[in-house]
Amino acid sequence: MIADSKGAVQGGAVRSGMTDLQSPSLPLLSGGSIPQLGLGVWQTPAGKVARQAVGEALRLGYRHVDTARIYGNEGDVGQAVRESGLPAGSVFVTTKLWNDDQGYDQALRAYDASLRRLGLDSVDLYLVHWPVARKRLDSWRALERLLDEKRVRAIGVSNFLVPHLEELLAHAHHPPAVNQIELSPFLQRRETVDLCRSKGIVVEAYSPLIHGQRLDHPTLVATAERAGRSVAQVLLRWNIQKGHVVLPKSTNPARIAENARIFDFTLDAAAMRELDGLEEGLVTGWDPAAQV
Ligand SMILES: NC(=O)c1ccc[n+]([C@@H]2O[C@H](COP(=O)([O-])OP(=O)(O)OC[C@H]3O[C@@H](n4cnc5c(N)ncnc54)[C@H](OP(=O)(O)O)[C@@H]3O)[C@@H](O)[C@H]2O)c1
Repeated sequence: MIADSKGAVQGGAVRSGMTDLQSPSLPLLSGGSIPQLGLGVWQTPAGKVARQAVGEALRLGYRHVDTARIYGNEGDVGQAVRESGLPAGSVFVTTKLWNDDQGYDQALRAYDASLRRLGLDSVDLYLVHWPVARKRLDSWRALERLLDEKRVRAIGVSNFLVPHLEELLAHAHHPPAVNQIELSPFLQRRETVDLCRSKGIVVEAYSPLIHGQRLDHPTLVATAERAGRSVAQVLLRWNIQKGHVVLPKSTNPARIAENARIFDFTLDAAAMRELDGLEEGLVTGWDPAAQV
């Protein structure tokens, strides 16, 4: 995505007048910016379902889609973006380097293969999906080359915790622009978030709806009732107010719309404190803490 020339900086975020959703964008270290709301497509079945979900999201005003080679739907994401009728470059597309493809030469080949499937000349953000031992630094060198050659707009990592980030920062010529990690009130990864913040690395929250696992939690239900919103909206808003990118996944048009209506209300300080108190180290996906 090319930053909106009409965007104005507001409190560190670039507010684009282009989307119906009024999703702010966050500045990236390597230049440009990233919309704070993106549609996640993990476990979105390839084919018509994926194309319809992405198409519906773009119609509603989402301008950011988060896919990965391992999700098996890059081709559908690319097709839905092309068929949206939106101007070329107006949708921020992320894809990721899968573990089998890590290593310097393999990563370069994997990037080209992802571009072919997406039908794009470059992506806005390419992430190392997982900190694979003994390979992640070679993978990073490959991503740095892609960035130096302007074949990708930004590079970053996913599932990197403090030890992985410290190692990377000690070796990198370019720091990661983004770290995508699982984040919700039940899993706050405070040390990792603090390190990212101190280095200007944008934090992206994956599984921000806790993969559906705590939507009936009494504190969330009460907060949602007070705010006149759904629990899903409260969870997303909590991450937005922390300054993170959120990547909710849905294939249901009503939920895709619901998950986008998060920029027209605010959780007050008491509600934020209450949600902050829910930390329980709940990992719904893989736990990178065990990855040396
Ligand atoms: N980098 C990584 O390693 C990694 C790992 C996991 C996820 N991610 C990214 O993060 C995205 C989101 O994470 P996720 O898919 O694990 O989980 P999530 O977004 O936390 O939750 C998705 C689940 O919640 C349901 N849902 C969506 N909106 C809802 C709403 N408003 N009310 C009630 N239920 C709702 C969805 O069902 P329906 O589809 O039926 O609505 C689905 O079952 C992924 O798609 C992917 O892009 C990245």
